[in-house]
Amino acid sequence: MKFFLDTADLSEIEEAASWGALAGVTTNPSLYAKIGGKLSGFYDHMKKICDIVGDDCPVSAETVAMTREEIVREGLELAEIAPNIVVKVPTMVEGLAATRELANLGVRVNMTLCFSVPQAILAARAGARYISPFIGRFDDISEDGLEQVGNIVAALGNYDFTESTVNGEQVEVIAASVRSANHVTQCALMGADIATVPFPVLKKMIQHPLTDRGLESFMKDWQKVLGE
Ligand code: G3P
Repeated sequence: MKFFLDTADLSEIEEAASWGALAGVTTNPSLYAKIGGKLSGFYDHMKKICDIVGDDCPVSAETVAMTREEIVREGLELAEIAPNIVVKVPTMVEGLAATRELANLGVRVNMTLCFSVPQAILAARAGARYISPFIGRFDDISEDGLEQVGNIVAALGNYDFTESTVNGEQVEVIAASVRSANHVTQCALMGADIATVPFPVLKKMIQHPLTDRGLESFMKDWQKVLGE
């Protein structure tokens, strides 16, 4: 499993990148608004994220257009920002059509707001490079988001979608709307390719009380060695 950071906050991205396990970043309009982002600075901000993580780490930048022509135009502009930009497109009819066109033009697409197996299969057939099923938003309405991710991973695994994607790359599932370290555990057990996590969840993933206790005891015992 790979880990992406789900944020538009540059300091969080810099910190997470320094830990050595970050493989990408996902953003959305809400995350950009959350850091006080303005329209005029959007493209520069995305470029800064791309520069921090480097060319090998995909950075998802979301389109806000609602028609296929506008989504394609916006997607092509976003793709110009940097080679590691992935264009994020909502799972809807216009989004599917735009994804097909963008994939045909060699642009990698992350289809977002995916909540079901049929949506995921359509996205893969339309040429999406990444598909992002949301977990937490299912949980918010008292449904099981993890079950949906498991179903999507299993269903996509039954087929070969490489003829649909850019350069025959394998479609990857990004577990999104992740709210806890346990979500990450369950997604890893189900075989999700990637989890995109908010920074507070990433911090929790490295923590365990027995690690803290064991470290404290090692340090205490080492003091005895030093005092010898
Ligand atoms: O990036 C999309 C997704 O991760 C959003 O999560 O917490 O707003 O449901 P959330």
